[in-house]
Amino acid sequence: MSTTPPARARVFSGMRPTGELHIGHLFGALGNWVRMQEEAECIYCVVDLHALTTGYEDVQGIRRNGQLMVADWLAVGIDPERSIMFRQSDVSEHAELATMLGMITPLSWLERVPSYKGQLQELGESIDTFGFLGYPLLQTADIILYKATEVPVGQDQLPHLELAREIVRRFNNLYGTVFPEPKARLAEVPLIMGVDNRKMSKSYGNAITIGATDEEIDRLVGSMVTDPQRIRKTDPGRPEVCNVWSYHKLFDTPQPELDAIYIGCTTAQLGCVQDKRALAETIKTAIRPIRARRAGFLEDPDRIDEILADGARRARAIAAPVLAEAKAAMGL
Ligand code: TRP
Repeated sequence: MSTTPPARARVFSGMRPTGELHIGHLFGALGNWVRMQEEAECIYCVVDLHALTTGYEDVQGIRRNGQLMVADWLAVGIDPERSIMFRQSDVSEHAELATMLGMITPLSWLERVPSYKGQLQELGESIDTFGFLGYPLLQTADIILYKATEVPVGQDQLPHLELAREIVRRFNNLYGTVFPEPKARLAEVPLIMGVDNRKMSKSYGNAITIGATDEEIDRLVGSMVTDPQRIRKTDPGRPEVCNVWSYHKLFDTPQPELDAIYIGCTTAQLGCVQDKRALAETIKTAIRPIRARRAGFLEDPDRIDEILADGARRARAIAAPVLAEAKAAMGL
């Protein structure tokens, strides 16, 4: 008896072209992106239209930032043979499907997305646009245009995925089942703080980028905040509240070394400065090969553009028939 093997899951995810990525991305969504290539057909998108939702006044850097970001993707192991990488604006089906979905999406659904009101308050009038309100609608179109079921993202994206499922249910109820409901795939890592214990962000200058030089790593790790109650070296430290300790665990410091650090810290034998030096060495060792691969790709930006052009062709081959199906279902 023969059974049809289940189709390989399809994965879709995207990032806005903000330029260089940092280790928060690496241990968060991006690590998941790399791993999912083993088990699924993966489509990774430079969402440049989304970049316009908050950055439409200054558009100079969008293409270059996209290249820098893709160099990072390639450097950490996204494989252009196995996975599709492309720019959102190169596949116009995204914008078309978003327009269609806009017809059936109640305004109230978009207005109640938690990040919407919050960001509007934070960033003010300049983002009080139709496009910003519609951000998660375009994101829904991104995903379902490929009938993707798995969406590796960070925790912050869960409300967007919830909305995507609601829109899919509404579409399927109205016009017949066309789209599967996409699921978020969260990376199993704790939130990684910046070197100053605030949220890691390029704009705070507290992020170790994945192309960081040895000097930058020394400087950033040297500035890390440890246990605030450990004032003198003779005070025992508390690794549980120490950012340096959480980085050690993140970077897979070998277990015997980790044990020695834990004991050294809690018995006041290992000082914070020395501990940070050890961490900086660990990070440098981890970053060095990534930085070298990244530099290789950046020496040849034409190659990055070729990868993206090839990705757009492959993406369109999937997207066009799905859009045709959605149009037919909608009576167009
Ligand atoms: N909103 C996502 C973020 O800021 C980016 C994004 C756009 C995305 N379209 C997507 C993520 C589709 C997953 C799937 O991280």
